[in-house]
Amino acid sequence: MKRLRATLAALALLSSLACAMAQADPPPAPDFQPPARGSEPDDDYGKIIRFGEQVFNHTDQYAAAYVGNHLRCASCHLDAGRQPDSAPLWGAYVLYPAYRAKNHHVNTYAERLQGCFEYSMNGKAPPLGDPVLVALETYSYWLAQGAPTGVKLKGQGYAKPPKPAQAPDYVRGQRVYEARCALCHGADGAGQRSASGETVFPALWGPDSFNWGAGIGSVNNAAAFIKSNMPLGLGGSLGDQDAWDVAQFVDSHERPQDPRYTGDVADTRAKFHDTPDSLYGLSVNGHVLGSDSVAPGGGTRSAATQ
Ligand code: HEC
Ligand code: HEC
Repeated sequence: MKRLRATLAALALLSSLACAMAQADPPPAPDFQPPARGSEPDDDYGKIIRFGEQVFNHTDQYAAAYVGNHLRCASCHLDAGRQPDSAPLWGAYVLYPAYRAKNHHVNTYAERLQGCFEYSMNGKAPPLGDPVLVALETYSYWLAQGAPTGVKLKGQGYAKPPKPAQAPDYVRGQRVYEARCALCHGADGAGQRSASGETVFPALWGPDSFNWGAGIGSVNNAAAFIKSNMPLGLGGSLGDQDAWDVAQFVDSHERPQDPRYTGDVADTRAKFHDTPDSLYGLSVNGHVLGSDSVAPGGGTRSAATQ
């Protein structure tokens, strides 16, 4: 009898616990600080970490064979991949392996890095085991040391601004662009390079930009990046509507072809861009986006007419 009572009490306790768990909000995303700059170990491990950081910050120099534009990883992952709400590497590392709808399978972290080379860097995926990829993995692993794994840390990814009150609009976006962005990125979106060829401000569209397969080519991702990170040094200063409008404007321009291009813009849209966040294959100011894209990978021929 005594045993039965104890069992019943335990069951009651368990069910109230289960209730509390079901009702509770998901636990808040934990805060995380990556290790201080320059605190990497002074050995072979430290050497690979430092090489990874160089690749991340000077991608066209240290990974030239895999880059087809003049962006660098840090163009979109600010402060060498350390900045919260700028898809920091420490926030990413602990979430992989993970399923990605983009390629319909569970991706290792290395595969995720390969994707950014192929699309955002408009280049080629370094093969698994390539020193460049190993160094980027090692740098990320080090930045994430001590972080809980499998958990979305505070500042992971790009914070998503709420849906705007009005549908994103090209003309309003152009006004924001001229007032807040053109000074650095240029009226023509081509960015600016120094006399020696170093990128000072990266291109936002045109042949030297990320290609149509890249994350920022979707208006929702562009709005999220821009809201927290642009204008440079003034992240968070644009209103939500302005961030969406200027994202719509940026993503309404031609850029290198999607490497998954099937030979037909409408078919490529149906297969890979069938979402309201992608303008690929739609007509803007009388021009069908994707119909006059240079070939991906830094080539110059028009892929759409091949
Ligand atoms: C043009 C902007 C851009 C550039 C350049 C870029 N990325 Fe990204 N990256 C993104 C966007 C946008 C996402 C997330 C959106 C998505 O899921 O596609 C992302 C996601 C990632 C993630 C996963 C983040 C997470 O929290 O899951 C990693 C890791 C990453 N990038 C690494 C790199 C590396 C390494 C390079 C350089 C080889 C690079 N990126 C270059 C825009 C960029
Ligand atoms: C003060 C100069 C400056 C201003 C103003 C500015 N940016 Fe940037 N932007 C940069 C720099 C520099 C980077 C790359 C960061 C790095 O390499 O550290 C960048 C990166 C970007 C990127 C990702 C890389 C790429 O080339 O696609 C986007 C998108 C972007 N800016 C959009 C905007 C938008 C939209 C505005 C206006 C709301 C804006 N920027 C205003 C300097 C600026």
